Amino acid sequence: MKSRKILVTSALPYANGSIHIGHVLESVITDIWVRYQNLNGNECLYFCADDTHGTPVMLKAKELGIEPEELIKRTREEHIRSYSKFNINFDNFYTTHSDENKKYAEDIYQKCKEGNLIFKKEIEQFYDSEEGLFLSDRFIKGTCPKCGAEDQYGDGCSVCGTTYTPDDLVNPVSSLSNSELTKKKTEHVFFDLPQMKDFLENYLKDLALQDPIKNKLNEWIEDGLKPWDISRDKPYFGFEIPGEKDKYFYVWLDAPIGYLASAKNWAENNSMDMNDLWGESSDYEIHHFIGKDIAYFHALFWPALLKSSNIRLPESINVHGFLTIDGEKMSKSNGTFINADDFAENYDGELLRYYFADKFNNSIDDLDFNEDEFIQKINSDIVGKYLNIASRVSKFIEKNGNSLSANLDEDFIKKNLAKIDEVIEHYEDLNLSKSVKIIMKMADEVNKYINENEPWKSSEEKAVEVSSTAINCFRVISILLNPVLPTITSKALEVFNDSATNDFNNIKDYLVDTKINPYKPLLKRLEKAKINEEIEMEDSNLIDIKDFAKVELRVAKIVKAEGIEEADKLIKLHLDVGDLGKRTVFAGIKSAYDPESLNGRHVVLVANLEPRKMKFGVSEGMVLASSNDEGSIYLISPDEGAKPGQLVK
Ligand code: 2FM
Ligand code: ZN
Repeated sequence: MKSRKILVTSALPYANGSIHIGHVLESVITDIWVRYQNLNGNECLYFCADDTHGTPVMLKAKELGIEPEELIKRTREEHIRSYSKFNINFDNFYTTHSDENKKYAEDIYQKCKEGNLIFKKEIEQFYDSEEGLFLSDRFIKGTCPKCGAEDQYGDGCSVCGTTYTPDDLVNPVSSLSNSELTKKKTEHVFFDLPQMKDFLENYLKDLALQDPIKNKLNEWIEDGLKPWDISRDKPYFGFEIPGEKDKYFYVWLDAPIGYLASAKNWAENNSMDMNDLWGESSDYEIHHFIGKDIAYFHALFWPALLKSSNIRLPESINVHGFLTIDGEKMSKSNGTFINADDFAENYDGELLRYYFADKFNNSIDDLDFNEDEFIQKINSDIVGKYLNIASRVSKFIEKNGNSLSANLDEDFIKKNLAKIDEVIEHYEDLNLSKSVKIIMKMADEVNKYINENEPWKSSEEKAVEVSSTAINCFRVISILLNPVLPTITSKALEVFNDSATNDFNNIKDYLVDTKINPYKPLLKRLEKAKINEEIEMEDSNLIDIKDFAKVELRVAKIVKAEGIEEADKLIKLHLDVGDLGKRTVFAGIKSAYDPESLNGRHVVLVANLEPRKMKFGVSEGMVLASSNDEGSIYLISPDEGAKPGQLVK
């Protein structure tokens, strides 16, 4: 019997950019918890969507010369593909630009109006008359009033960290057109948040949420809540506000409503009544997973909207910190930015789940990614401890006709089983690092047990008994690790025949005197791929001629080009480099070129680049190409007549 019914969401990624490994961190934590709940006998559903509205999406579409609808359609497909590389198992990944979301946004707004929570007020806002746009703080730049740094955004200085409003900036201009700003009056629609003060104070008392965040929210409430501006003027990509002219709902109004829309869309496709899933008093618990920067929206505005419309409130908001790279904030210009797809082109995305789980302890502290540490962790824990158990003992069982012994060392097995409940408790509390550490401790114990009992030295009967004991523990470990490493552990569990049920309910059953399948190695030790190589930047861009001379550039002819099916971006190029012979290079140009169109073409090769090991083979150099901010790619070619192997200087 399924005891609990649970509905889970993670924050909706913006549709104006790609998924990076910070997004992956959040979805991994969420997905592990969802998988754990399902394995532990509960029914748990996971909903997400793209956050599609707002000015950045509108501007990006304009830049690309396409409609915003087309942009968000493409982005959603890309996002779904990116998440799947990390085995994130959404029940529905929907979009906020949907009929369901429009209807919910309008209904909730109507309810708020009926509850006298909506009013209108004239405000003054910066206006870019060249672009014909009201500008939010993010689109205004100028000189920092405190430290004098130029080109700072309207909401705060990235150099000295001061926060301010655009009014405080020296010489503010529009970051879109660089034109001077004017101020223009406009009427906006507000949600009267201060009226919800008592409700929010009480709600926060019961809400499961980390203390530091709760304290901060209570401080905000005590300092006085302000009415929330929920409208934006045209042009804007979003939903028009019913009864208003040329006014749209602010993206942050309909973004969380997107959780409801995703659930509703799933309910419709699964013949379920939304009232039973997420209605006024449905049976499903509701749990949100978010980053610490958006707690205000989720713990104040969002419950206030739900309350005003009599929709069931969330029981928990699980907040995590930011992902840093090598101890630094993720940023493209620092070379500390890792796209999810780039990661997955170099390593199996599933392994990143383990690295994150090993570090995440349900605190709001930032969590760091370091590539060397990642490789070390996977090699030591997954290859060296966990999978090592099966590789060490399976040969002894194979020799016994793949049959497990009728006698097991039950004392040893029971010692391991005694730790299961603790692992489960830590999963429940999202203390993933503790779960993982106990599981690895079990793996250590099993390896020690094998060392001490030396099956390679003992009688055949004893060897089979020790190996059968170890492989039973391997089964337990595989089941316990399944939420973290769903694919690897499922493959590992194929060792045991169908008759073994591999979920948390049956985890304590032993397998004796039964046939199993031979174990096939599942993972090789990782070697460093240097995911971030392309974007590492130098502080100064001046080099002397000697530096340049170090780079050996050669004309090369593409003899054959093949797309790599599992890689969205890579084409494998077989090159003829004249006297230097043949080379294979993996180039990230698939988005721009059809492999067939490249056959016979001449390109420029960096011929003395250290060979780089990638997931799909070794890349022996790099071909030169130019790309722009929109991601268009242009290969560099020599003029007609240049021969393969010729130097370029
Ligand atoms: O901060 C963000 O990336 C937002 N797109 C999150 C929205 S979460 C929810 F409210 F929709
Ligand atoms: Zn400053």
